[in-house]
Amino acid sequence: MKYALNSHNNPATDSQDCVVIPVFSEDKKVILSNAGNQLDKASAGEISSILDKGDFKANTSDTQMLYDVAGIKASRVLLVGCGKSSDFEAKTVNQVSQAASKTLQKTSIKSVSCYLSDSITGKPKSTAITQTIIGFADSLYQLQDYKSKKKDAPSLEEVCVSLSNGFDESAQTALDNGIAISEGMKLTRDLANHPGNVCTPTFIAETATSLANDYKSVDIDVLEEADMEKLGMHSFLSVSKGSDEPGKMIILQYFGAKNKKQQPIALVGKGVTFDTGGISLKPGANMDEMKFDMGGAAGMLGTLKACAEMQLDINVVVVLAAAENMPSARASKPGDIVTSMKGITIEVLNTDAEGRLVLCDALTYVGKYNPSIVIDAATLTGACIVALGHHICAVLSNDDALANDLMDAGNTIHDRAWRLPMGDDYKKQLKSSFADLGNIGAGGAGTITAACFLGEFTKDYKWAHLDIAGTAWKGKDATGRPVPLLSQFLINQANK
Ligand code: BES
Ligand code: MN
Ligand code: ZN
Repeated sequence: MKYALNSHNNPATDSQDCVVIPVFSEDKKVILSNAGNQLDKASAGEISSILDKGDFKANTSDTQMLYDVAGIKASRVLLVGCGKSSDFEAKTVNQVSQAASKTLQKTSIKSVSCYLSDSITGKPKSTAITQTIIGFADSLYQLQDYKSKKKDAPSLEEVCVSLSNGFDESAQTALDNGIAISEGMKLTRDLANHPGNVCTPTFIAETATSLANDYKSVDIDVLEEADMEKLGMHSFLSVSKGSDEPGKMIILQYFGAKNKKQQPIALVGKGVTFDTGGISLKPGANMDEMKFDMGGAAGMLGTLKACAEMQLDINVVVVLAAAENMPSARASKPGDIVTSMKGITIEVLNTDAEGRLVLCDALTYVGKYNPSIVIDAATLTGACIVALGHHICAVLSNDDALANDLMDAGNTIHDRAWRLPMGDDYKKQLKSSFADLGNIGAGGAGTITAACFLGEFTKDYKWAHLDIAGTAWKGKDATGRPVPLLSQFLINQANK
């Protein structure tokens, strides 16, 4: 798909196959935007007389295709309902772009001139432009590798983001960011959607290697189990040893700052390529979805791709803790005690709480890069879905400013995070009779106690944990989250 900016100031003469315009609903009346009014004028009122019939209510995501409207060069005009104009924001632009894209995909239209982000008034247009791209790209996504009969490619080839008053450099940046973030999301979705027999720790390492090959600014290093043994990562290894698939600790470094020695921002991802629960075996229903348990690692890799595409003026180090959690004769048993890289001993009371076991060694290891900030993302707890459902991810942090920056970034780009508390009362729930820490917390608040476990390994730096258990996938499809949130966060950091 080609995305471009278009500054035509008369949509009636746009040369694309179709002009996409927003229509707002106000107290049972429908209202055209700037571009819509221009088209209406050019058509001598044809569009408003169609709207006057009252069939098109302009509720958010309603669409109506018009053909061969007089006085308009494009052979089609797509009306897209956008709800109340006062509620129209970046989030709605994403929604209505997806709706427009779905309608367009049923047609033979090749190119569109899209005025959906043009109608944000009194708010920055740039996020709306970015959202148009993300919305279109998201709705065009599909992984067809495993279908023997492939669907025809959509005929849509070009989306022009049109602005009736021209555009400046910030609009171009917003468009480029949207493209970069969409590419990052696609990588994340592909990786997470691949089944567990394909997407193994080795496959993640190979994908990361090809990303490093694609960008001069990205270096890679992969730790094998023998290397981790030497480093004393026995917590990580206690998970991977139950599987025939070798575990990998994958380290990528992005150098975008003018000073190569500038402290990096660290992104750490949980990459459990399949989580059976281990000896604490999970029930069978929907266990297939545990192929998505590497969503944190996939999200960090996608974010790195977006960052490298945008050539952000920062340094980033990514650590992916990739392992498969299986029951076997070599698997950890409940009650086993292991020593983490940091020296903290852990009683593995439940082998299904494996995410924190692989992450704690990754979080210790990343310390050697002297990061200014460490953010981890993990599909860590089912409890997070109980707390926040599938709409918003959880953020837990030892630094108020960092937590706020993450929530702000999420609000900007419509990939939200909500903070949950931490603290000693919760930490105490992780007591073990024999070791320094148990790997599960007694007495509820599972998302918080999981974060408190990680927090024992992150005391040396500013740290935030994103629990993306509810947001990394929807139904049976990966979402590409939290790539938008983290990309926006990195953009904001680069502009600081
Ligand atoms: N990967 C799961 C968490 C999960 C479950 C994410 C369902 C998304 C949907 C994680 O490894 C896990 O099994 N967590 C346990 C922790 C418990 C044993 C303390 C959980 O949430 O049940
Ligand atoms: Mn588990
Ligand atoms: Zn898991």
